[in-house]
Amino acid sequence: MQNYKIAVIAGDGIGPDVIAEGKKVLEGIARLDGSFSVEFTDFPWGCEYYLKNGCMMPENGLDILKDFDAIYLGAVGYPGVPDDVSLQGLLLKIRRGFDQYINLRPVKLLQGAPCPLKDVSEKDIDMVVVRENSEGEYANVGARLYPGTEQEVALQTGVFSRKGCERVIRYAYELAKKEGKTLTNISKANALGYSMVFWNEIFAEVGKDYPEVKTSSLMVDAASMFFVKDPKRFQIVVTSNLFGDIITDLGAAIAGGMGLAAGANLNPERKFPSMFEPIHGSAPDIAGQGLANPLAAIWSVSQMLDFFGHEDWGQKVIAAIETLLCEKQTLTPDLGGTAKTSDIGAAILEILQR
Ligand code: NAD
Ligand code: IPM
Ligand code: MN
Repeated sequence: MQNYKIAVIAGDGIGPDVIAEGKKVLEGIARLDGSFSVEFTDFPWGCEYYLKNGCMMPENGLDILKDFDAIYLGAVGYPGVPDDVSLQGLLLKIRRGFDQYINLRPVKLLQGAPCPLKDVSEKDIDMVVVRENSEGEYANVGARLYPGTEQEVALQTGVFSRKGCERVIRYAYELAKKEGKTLTNISKANALGYSMVFWNEIFAEVGKDYPEVKTSSLMVDAASMFFVKDPKRFQIVVTSNLFGDIITDLGAAIAGGMGLAAGANLNPERKFPSMFEPIHGSAPDIAGQGLANPLAAIWSVSQMLDFFGHEDWGQKVIAAIETLLCEKQTLTPDLGGTAKTSDIGAAILEILQR
């Protein structure tokens, strides 16, 4: 029997609460299916760990994680530890260290999910954002000069390599081709005359191999406007690391909120484990109160099942979330309900068992 070994980094704030529900769902599915099992190994890494040990994860953290089939991550970051220290020391270290260069973020309005836009239905918001996840604006190359003086300077350099741009753009073209969808390139070449001009050139170059894929290109500012005014124009979207970060929070806002937005950090070659997580953070404003919506974390379980080749179960999890949203019996407060975080996993499993 196939046994999936999953490293769990529940992390900070609402991380542990939402991850607990995702684990319940994944364990339940393995039981229902019978042909595979899951084995979780929990790692206590995060901000509390940092305050005790002076590091977000052990020095050999990546080595400890490298033989797992997947990583399931909650959220990282909490007041008391500077965000650059906590995120650079854990989440971003894993994304970069395991060359998880694809960040796949569905922006899909499920049946029953609330939408703040007027005259919009499920068929109008159904896209996948392919976010570059290993370099770009997040390469964290730079310097601080003359600290504490009047001449103080901060430099932050974007790193756009041919290989790095090409592989994510090609991935997006392949996805668009496979699914028969359009591809929108989001960039900003009018202001970023080196990085984004290069990015657009590579988009055009790679496109020569995909004559069947219908493409369009937008500046990120205009794209943000169209996410709100005309989201149906987007199907597959490809963009850089920072732009992808920002537009997927906007995507979450139009598709049910932060509690319903998942993301997969993929190393497509499977040389390293991939990592599955909700895209929201540790939400200190609601932590420890049972208020967090774990459906994004449960959606990332669906992405993990897809990645393992159990697309049938991946689809069933999404359908179960839709049933839960439509029945409105067991929803957390962000979706207008009174249920607790810890009620949701069992409710999803109950639907899956029907
Ligand atoms: P956030 O996503 O944690 O919260 C933004 C808002 O959305 C808050 O009002 C929060 O209550 C709400 N929210 C988020 N997730 C929710 C859920 N599941 N259910 C209901 N409401 C939810 O963003 P932030 O406040 O900017 O960041 C808080 C901390 O998390 C910071 O330290 C930040 O660096 C970190 N962060 C981590 C990740 C990650 O680990 N992937 C992602 C984003 C932010
Ligand atoms: C996300 C988060 C991270 C990012 C932060 C916490 C570094 O916002 O996963 O969207 O910007 O990638
Ligand atoms: Mn983000």
